[in-house]
Amino acid sequence: MMKPNHPSAESKKRHEVAAMFDSIAPTYDRLNRILSVGTDRIWRNRAIRLGGVSAGQHWLDLAAGSGDVAQTGLRLVPGSQWTAGDPSIELLRILKNRPALGSVDAFLCGAEQLPFEDECFDGVTVAFGLRNFERPMEGLTEIHRVLKPGGKAVFLEFLAQESGGWGGPLVRFYLEKVLPLIGGLVSGHKHAYSYLAQSSKSFWSPTQLKNHLHDVGYGPIKMIGYMGGAVTLTIARVDKR
Ligand SMILES: C[S@@+](CC[C@H](N)C(=O)[O-])C[C@H]1O[C@@H](n2cnc3c(N)ncnc32)[C@H](O)[C@@H]1O
Repeated sequence: MMKPNHPSAESKKRHEVAAMFDSIAPTYDRLNRILSVGTDRIWRNRAIRLGGVSAGQHWLDLAAGSGDVAQTGLRLVPGSQWTAGDPSIELLRILKNRPALGSVDAFLCGAEQLPFEDECFDGVTVAFGLRNFERPMEGLTEIHRVLKPGGKAVFLEFLAQESGGWGGPLVRFYLEKVLPLIGGLVSGHKHAYSYLAQSSKSFWSPTQLKNHLHDVGYGPIKMIGYMGGAVTLTIARVDKR
């Protein structure tokens, strides 16, 4: 079921971020629905469809949280197989209690050190998790390592805004003012909901993510912006030989 990955290698930031997600786990799913006004489901559906998940394939949902992406994958593509990885034990507990996710094997792990063999997955999804990685370049490298040749890495993320997207100012206001207020009231942990705005502002832009993916060795990369560029879906293929 939940398999711990080298506890001695766990670092301070990963521990703190995981503890923060542990603290909001009881209200996490309910708040996701409220705060995104249901749009998070649309983005996850697109990630599965445009990511090209197909029956018979084995995908890893990394930064899986309570398992929304794996559940979407199983619902939209019956016959696909899913494994989940996340450093928050409380979110993984919720994942393992979801009846629809009974077939999903869950691993307690950070992206920087994945407890999987080389080239064992057809695809890896990371929804709203990349900016939480303690060392994102190591995470991208590990994902590349566990992907089979021709496999795909699919990221959904609030990236730092580049000029031109109408979604920037509106979404920033929402993330910085509205989200901490409602998130704080419902969960009792305002800091966790301020963290989203802070971490997305200081994280990579779409161009930086694309460049980093190329640096790690990913092949063709497709990026689609939603909500005026506030959320980016990135699909990167691995061409190893
Ligand atoms: C905003 S949640 C997203 C959860 C889920 N993917 C979803 O779409 O609802 C971010 C997740 O990243 C996880 N996380 C934090 N640090 C991580 C790391 N170093 N490696 C992998 N996941 C990490 C957290 O525990 C949390 O579950």
